[in-house]
Amino acid sequence: MNLVFLGPPGAGKGTIASEAKNLFGIPHISTGDLFRSHIKGETELGKQVKTILAAGDLVPDSVTIEMVKQRFLESDAQNGFILDGFPRTIAQADALAEMKPLDAVVNFVLDRDLIVKRLSGRRVCKSTGKTYHILYNPPKREGIDDETGEPLIQRDDDKPEAILNRLSVYEKQTEPLIAYYREKGLLVDIDASPAPEVVLEALVKVVQK
Ligand code: AP5
Ligand code: ZN
Repeated sequence: MNLVFLGPPGAGKGTIASEAKNLFGIPHISTGDLFRSHIKGETELGKQVKTILAAGDLVPDSVTIEMVKQRFLESDAQNGFILDGFPRTIAQADALAEMKPLDAVVNFVLDRDLIVKRLSGRRVCKSTGKTYHILYNPPKREGIDDETGEPLIQRDDDKPEAILNRLSVYEKQTEPLIAYYREKGLLVDIDASPAPEVVLEALVKVVQK
């Protein structure tokens, strides 16, 4: 199954993908995670994109498309995938159409006030990237990852100024993809506001239709 998860920042794409990948037996390919792992590893690409991510701007299309192309060459991506956070522009969507056919584009629908609540309360494990929320999914010990015992941190782009910028970047550059994929008959909307188990159940229903 070739799936794209589309939706505003903080809608829960990563949270649901980390469950759905096991359920469907396909890899979760998050361009945000790929960039963050380059930044952590201090690669050339990581150095190039670090300030862009911190500000919440988009990495140039050419760089992003090339990274996804390379990821698709890996053996685990040959029999389906969940693309999370890609495409984010019309140019990226056109490039993807040349690379892979899609079965569905799942549009995570969430109001702005909940988006801001989810992003501002998100905390992640510094080493594994595992995601928590201070209210909705707190760790057992405050500020500490349940598995690694390491401190949880806030993503640079979850600070207030970056959140506002990401929302406006989303509205200008990514939202047009909703109409783009609706016209192609690929778009399915899911309500991203209930608890993760409920969203996952809705996802299973819409992709199995
Ligand atoms: P990326 O990492 O993709 O960020 P994003 O799209 O802004 O999405 P998020 O990761 O913020 O949100 P999410 O929907 O995954 O939510 P999550 O599950 O974590 O991209 C980061 C940056 O990389 C971009 O800004 C850009 O610079 C660059 N980039 C990436 N792709 C690019 C591209 N294609 N082109 C150019 N640049 C690109 O959940 C959020 C919080 O809510 C968590 O705390 C979670 O615990 C909680 N939560 C989740 N679901 C629920 C629920 N159902 N109920 C209650 N709480 C919930
Ligand atoms: Zn994410």
